[in-house]
Amino acid sequence: MSAHRVVFTPSGKRGEFPDGTSLLAAARTLGVDLDSVCGGRGICGRCQVDVAEGAFAKHAIRSGPDHLTPWGEVEQRYADKRGPFAAKRRLGCQARICGDLVIDVPPESQVHRQVVRKRAETRAIEIDPVVRLHYVEVAEPDMHDPSSDFRRLQQALSQQWGLAETNADLVTLAGLQKTLRAGGWKVTAALRKDRDIVAVTPGFTERAYGVAIDVGSTTIAAHLCDLVSGEVVASCGAMNPQIRFGEDLMSRVSYVMMNPGGDKELTRTVREAMDNLIGEAAREAGVARSEILEVTLVGNPIMHHLVLGLDPTELGGAPFALTIDGAYEARARELGLDVAPGAFAYALPCIAGHVGADTAGVVLSEGPHLKDELTLLVDVGTNAEIVFGARERLLACSSPTGPAFEGAQVSCGQRAAPGAIERVRIDRLNLEPRFKVIGCDHWSDEPGFAEATANLGVTGVCGSGIIEAIAEMFLSGIVSEDGVIDGELAERTKRVEQVGRTFAYVLSEGAPRLLIYQMDVRAIQLAKAALYAGAKLLIGRAGAAPERITLAGAFGSHIDPLYAMTLGLIPDCDLAKVASAGNAAGTGARIALLNLAARTEIEGVARRIEKIETAIEPAFQRHFVAAMAFPNKEDAFPNLAKRIDLPARKEPASERGRRRRRAASADTG
Ligand code: FES
Repeated sequence: MSAHRVVFTPSGKRGEFPDGTSLLAAARTLGVDLDSVCGGRGICGRCQVDVAEGAFAKHAIRSGPDHLTPWGEVEQRYADKRGPFAAKRRLGCQARICGDLVIDVPPESQVHRQVVRKRAETRAIEIDPVVRLHYVEVAEPDMHDPSSDFRRLQQALSQQWGLAETNADLVTLAGLQKTLRAGGWKVTAALRKDRDIVAVTPGFTERAYGVAIDVGSTTIAAHLCDLVSGEVVASCGAMNPQIRFGEDLMSRVSYVMMNPGGDKELTRTVREAMDNLIGEAAREAGVARSEILEVTLVGNPIMHHLVLGLDPTELGGAPFALTIDGAYEARARELGLDVAPGAFAYALPCIAGHVGADTAGVVLSEGPHLKDELTLLVDVGTNAEIVFGARERLLACSSPTGPAFEGAQVSCGQRAAPGAIERVRIDRLNLEPRFKVIGCDHWSDEPGFAEATANLGVTGVCGSGIIEAIAEMFLSGIVSEDGVIDGELAERTKRVEQVGRTFAYVLSEGAPRLLIYQMDVRAIQLAKAALYAGAKLLIGRAGAAPERITLAGAFGSHIDPLYAMTLGLIPDCDLAKVASAGNAAGTGARIALLNLAARTEIEGVARRIEKIETAIEPAFQRHFVAAMAFPNKEDAFPNLAKRIDLPARKEPASERGRRRRRAASADTG
């Protein structure tokens, strides 16, 4: 029998095959990445390939469609059902080799295809799902062969797919006999890591989904993904109902400490919310819960523990001991999640007592461990979780910023919602403000603003609005470098008014009146100083400045890097290299959902990240004090200075007053 040379592109893998070998079989022999769910029965269409035509000098091959067996009945049946094929496209399992060939495997036929992400600096997600579908035809029971239905399913998987060591738990087995009979002994088995059968569906199916869940202390987000294409088919979010037990994390831990069984209650509450979100996302995408075959989870350490049903009490105080820090997997139903009966949930690893699986998700998404560029990753929430470093070395810490950046602890603060001021500009001469509110495209001094906000109202200022308001106050001289609102301006503008012993800036005269008080400036100073001091600690340890800064989390995605740097939330850096990563923790959970190798990767990276505990670092306090100033008392901001005119350092108002009094007494004396 004659042999023919076949080259597969883009891999370039090549071999010689006897006449009549199917392209799928040839691809398998060479380890070419060519998909198949039906095992070569011409049902799934995943094995489609393109035949190249012409002389390929590079390979010394002349290839053409006539070097394959003619278009057959099975292919025609598939095309009749699913629509006509592109020219020179064939089903790899049906087309057989009868001449030399160059065969191209298009991206959609590759198991390990890539999902492109929007931002250029991030890596693409490669699909390498932990759960894969396998169509099998199972032998019917026979009086002469007393083996069980499950044994015959195992035999079919072994013979038809080479999967020799399969297993299933009781819940999956409970429905097996009905499914086998309903499918006429033809079923699709979903296998996890080629071993655990997590679902069995009658007949042929190619529907496989997974959910990536980001459990934040304020909000929970669920992303339902197609495990084959990697696409997000629905995303849903909800407030974390645990808020009724305490706004912030520590108050929830206190609730657990004060109320026996409180941890169980918090666990039940968060699990219910997660399950509701899964139901909502599944409904929206028209996916059955039983088609959800895998779940991944990220969250800060306390959320992580509560979701897994672990008591978070020890995380409430030093030394912040975690029950577990490695990645953990459990059956999803043990976490109260109604998905496929045997589906697993995988929680990403925690890095330290204050640096959780959410940060592991951010690291996985942004990949600082894959770059030579020194990257500072900041996930801003009630705690700022900070990671700094590059390929060789990564450091992490958490800084207690408090909820000021989320609009709490600021008198006019509110969550980012329609009606909240999100952008602020202040005229440098007359100190008049103008602003933008969420839900309206106009600036407040533009025609149409009043009409557009008539229903919305101007209700408060969200985190990014507060940052801009205070940064603009600083740039226009209303607030000094030390964060003091200059009371002398009250004589010059009605925008500055006295409130008790301090002063306030009137941002909006509407109803309600929105004022930035001295104590609001202080709250932001404390929060930003904590964030900066944490970052500086890591930078000091690494001995080099950041070359890129990435802001993660909801707050990070709205904040303007220029204003964040003006206030000194983040260190100086080329502003072109400061960007927001959006919900990077959620993206990390999605990567772990779609790519098995990514799990091993993040587990290894999390182990080697050096953890710095800010509370016991003597330098932290010093950095903190210096960082109370705008942008900073000690550190220069040369990159920032190229973009804006930073105010000349002013004498503090108190000092000016003292000097005047001295001068006055000298005059009278
Ligand atoms: S492998 Fe399923 S159609 Fe070819």
